[in-house]
Amino acid sequence: MIKGRNVLLKALEESHLKRIYDILMMDDIGSTFSTTYKEVTLSGLASFLYLTEPGTISKVFSIFSDNEIIGFVTLNNIHPIRHNAYIGIVGIDPKYQNGMYGVDALRTIIKYSFDTLNLHRLYGHTFSDNPKMHTLYKRGNWIHEGTEREYAFRNGEWVGREIWGILRDEKEK
Ligand SMILES: CC(C)(COP(=O)(O)OP(=O)(O)OC[C@H]1O[C@@H](n2cnc3c(N)ncnc32)[C@H](O)[C@@H]1OP(=O)(O)O)[C@@H](O)C(=O)NCCC(=O)NCCS
Repeated sequence: MIKGRNVLLKALEESHLKRIYDILMMDDIGSTFSTTYKEVTLSGLASFLYLTEPGTISKVFSIFSDNEIIGFVTLNNIHPIRHNAYIGIVGIDPKYQNGMYGVDALRTIIKYSFDTLNLHRLYGHTFSDNPKMHTLYKRGNWIHEGTEREYAFRNGEWVGREIWGILRDEKEK
């Protein structure tokens, strides 16, 4: 269990899966990270969240506030030699959005990644039409490292993908 200011991150348990699945399937959650999220089934959810490159591991956390699951965040591709990892997915139930839970969850996972896992670099990708996530990264001192133009075909049009990164020395003090 990792304690943030207003959230607790708990390692994913089987009893969390249904609630996380329901959040993933909500409008404007799954579509922000995947063009194929509707194909994910409840029984396939864990494999979807734990997806990882060969030679790396992933960690998945349920985001709790007041004993209730309000979202989830994944740390994928944790590389033991390169000391980097990928923020795969962060999603907050729309009922709780704009309450600074996203900022707090991201800050907490960054601190855990650098201070506990001794990682050196984190990176994340967001579709170009997600200004809120871009704000979240900027707010956390992440650097915009580039754009992959017309990365995916979604809802009948091409959408780009932004690459964000943060090094250990750049995290908020
Ligand atoms: C992105 C997400 C995780 C943010 O979590 P949250 O709890 O709603 O965000 P917070 O309340 O912690 O922070 C909101 C910040 O975004 C800003 N913001 C809110 N709406 C915004 C918008 N439409 N455009 C730009 N910034 C916006 C707020 O001003 C605030 O920044 P500030 O404190 O500097 O003012 C959440 O909205 C979410 O789950 N979205 C859907 C899934 C998603 O997009 N995930 C990322 C995919 S890679």
